[in-house]
Amino acid sequence: MPAAVPEPAAAQPILTPLSTAALILVVTIEPGGEAAVRDVLPDLGAFARSIDFRFPGIGLACVTGFGSDAWDRLFAGPRPAGLHPFQELHGARHHAPTTPGDLLLHIRGERMDVCYEWAARLLGRLGGAVKVVDETQGFRYLDHRDLLGFVDGTENPVGADARAAALVGSADPDFAGGSYVIVQKYLHDLAGWNALSTEEQERVIGRSKADDVEMSDAVKPANSHVALNTLTAPDGSEREILRANMPFGSFEQGQFGTYFIGYAADPDVTEQMLRNMFLGSPPGTYDRILDFSTAVTGTLFYAPCADFFDAPPPSPVPSGTESLPQPASAPVAQAPVPTGAGDGSLHIGSLQESAQ
Ligand code: HEM
Repeated sequence: MPAAVPEPAAAQPILTPLSTAALILVVTIEPGGEAAVRDVLPDLGAFARSIDFRFPGIGLACVTGFGSDAWDRLFAGPRPAGLHPFQELHGARHHAPTTPGDLLLHIRGERMDVCYEWAARLLGRLGGAVKVVDETQGFRYLDHRDLLGFVDGTENPVGADARAAALVGSADPDFAGGSYVIVQKYLHDLAGWNALSTEEQERVIGRSKADDVEMSDAVKPANSHVALNTLTAPDGSEREILRANMPFGSFEQGQFGTYFIGYAADPDVTEQMLRNMFLGSPPGTYDRILDFSTAVTGTLFYAPCADFFDAPPPSPVPSGTESLPQPASAPVAQAPVPTGAGDGSLHIGSLQESAQ
């Protein structure tokens, strides 16, 4: 188990319970857009506070992460030890692609409108500096089920175990309190899945469907999802991650899936799980869930501790030489939003963005 996190490193809201709604945006930074992104970072907390204060109980929780290339474009100085591009995997049957992503915006709450509001403010400020390359609106489905019909999240660590699993500790003191996030969008073959009997589906997952009980080791297949994702360290302890998966679906597009979000103190834990799933453990014994779930995205981010945003490291580019695609200080109401999503925010009682 990773070492405990020193007290001063306040994490972003990573350890929050699974929410009713989530808006997950993966964004690339346009050439020359770095200064606008850097400019907005100190205001992210204020965006959240002004929404959160007016809607108590909604539990708005926004986590921002940076991709490996983006880190070098935005910040000079030391970089998080485990930050690197997502490693593509080619198994005998299944493929985990790596896809672009400079910023991850993982926005959670009990209402989608407050998630939307935070994103609208941020993207309004960023204007043409960024491009949204993947957008997923996730929802809680029934009693925390994925669209395969199984309860998802049961064995997530809680309390101190969740903190140790998800947050960087003293092994990398400059980056303590941060977390490595791997996201992957999976599309399900529901017709194929629903053609299986319930008993066969249970052997794919390794748990019972109706009452969510794990199979005993004696009967749990080696290629079940649970078997391949239960990792044991040499000292006998379990190597865990904190998952924040969300179901999503579009009847119009005929796309139904699971958005996998895994927070880890050490990205190698999630990566080992992925190797087990895609390459197999032992090799060839791959995760049967992949016969019904296709990964269409894959990106690794580092989400720093909350304090990081108040005073980010200096820019790698000498000040005054950055080129901007548009003024970062443009008032939100006038800033074009190039994301295709549109900025429908009402800006009711909004911050004095134009003064920042
Ligand atoms: C467990 C669904 C992808 C890691 C589970 C469970 C379900 C599930 C139903 C059992 C209940 C629970 O403990 O949460 C899915 C679906 C996925 C997906 C539908 C996407 C198609 C992944 C990926 C990883 C992962 C990509 C890791 C890289 C885990 C872990 C457990 C788990 C660590 C707990 C194992 C245990 O200790 O019992 N998942 N999962 N899952 N999954 Fe996934």
